Amino acid sequence: MARKTFPLNAWYVAAWDYEVGRSLLARQICGKKMVLFRTLAGQAVALADACWHKPVPLSETGKLIGDNVQCGYHGLRYNTQGRCVVMPSQQTLNPSACVASFPIVDAHRFVWVWPGDPTLADAALIPDIQWMMGAERLPDDTEKIWAGAGGTNWIACDYRFTLDNIMDPSHTAYAHSDSIGAEHTSTAENVMTQNESSCTLTRWMIDVEAPPFWKAHYLAAGFKPGNVDRWQIAHFLAPSVVAFENGVATTGTGAPQGDRSQGVGSRVVNCVTPITEDTCAYYWCNMRNWAQSDQGLTFRIRESLRRIISEDHVLLEAQQRGTRDFPEQRLNNLNVDVGGLWVRKIIESMIDREQSAPLASRSHSTHGSVAST
Ligand SMILES: [Fe+2]
Repeated sequence: MARKTFPLNAWYVAAWDYEVGRSLLARQICGKKMVLFRTLAGQAVALADACWHKPVPLSETGKLIGDNVQCGYHGLRYNTQGRCVVMPSQQTLNPSACVASFPIVDAHRFVWVWPGDPTLADAALIPDIQWMMGAERLPDDTEKIWAGAGGTNWIACDYRFTLDNIMDPSHTAYAHSDSIGAEHTSTAENVMTQNESSCTLTRWMIDVEAPPFWKAHYLAAGFKPGNVDRWQIAHFLAPSVVAFENGVATTGTGAPQGDRSQGVGSRVVNCVTPITEDTCAYYWCNMRNWAQSDQGLTFRIRESLRRIISEDHVLLEAQQRGTRDFPEQRLNNLNVDVGGLWVRKIIESMIDREQSAPLASRSHSTHGSVAST
C-alpha cells in the first residue's frame, strides 16, 4: 500500500456551512467521494457517494425523500446512517445493504468531515478557529466582532504545496508585489514555535513602509502617513488549517509588545482539504477589525484577497506540473521554508501514528462501500 500524503483520522473542511442544504452536494475528501445534505431538522449528513446495488453516484442521480436519499437507478433509499431502508423491487431488505456514513459536524461557519475511522472522531478535535470567524471573547467576557467574507479555490496541486505557500509569507515580495508584497517580506526573520499538533511562524518587520494593500487600509482607517511595524503570524493547526494574523501599526506604538490598537489588522483563515493526492480545495476567509459595519469594504477586501489567491493558484498548479515533469528532482529548502518543513513534519508524524495503529482501528467502517484504508 502506497503511503498517503494525508492522515485520514482528522477533521477536514468539506464545505462552507451554507453550501450544505436540501439538495445533494458531491464532495471528495482525501480520495473518498461523498454526498452531503441536511435533514429536515438541519443536521448535516455525509454518505459514500455510490449506491450499494450498482455504484451509481447518489449525488448525480438521487434525490432526497424526507431525510432519506433515494438512488435514481432502482429507487433504493438510505437513511442518515447509510442503511438501506427501502428496496422497491423486493419485500425483504438485504441486511448488508448500506453505504458508509462519515462523521460530520457544523463548526465555525464550515462543515467538517472525518474521512477515517469513525470510532476515533471527536468533535473536540476540530481546530478552534472561532476566534477568527467573527466573535472574539475578550478577557472581560465581552465580545469583539470581526467582519469579513471568503471564498473557495479548487487547485490542481498537492494540498501540502498550498500549506507551504501559506506558511511562507516571504513569497509575497514576488508573487504579490502590487498588493501585500514588499522587499522587507523576503528578508524578515522567521521565528518558529511548535508542538505535536501545531506550529506558529512569527515575523515582525519594524519601521518599514507599508505595501499598497496595507497602506491604503491604514490611511482609510484614519492613521497618519508614515512607517509601520508589520506582523505576519501563521498558526498551523494540523493537518490542514492555517490561522493567519497580519496587519500594520504605527511604528513605535508597541505592536510587537502586544498593543496593535494604533493600526489595522486582519485574520485570514485558510482551510486546505485534500481532494486527491494532487488536488485540493482551499477555503479562505478574511476578517478585519476596522470599519466592521462597512459591507462594501467587506466585499472589496474579499475581491482583493481573491486576486491574491488567484496569483498563488497559478503558481501552485505550475509547481504541480513541474513536480510531474521532473520526478527525480527532490524538494530543496531555503530558510523561508521553515514553516512548511514543520507542517510536513507534523503531518508525517500523524500519518506514522495512523499507519502504526492496530489494524482494527485502521479499518474505516464495518459496513459500506468505501474501502478500508
Ligand atoms: Fe501568496
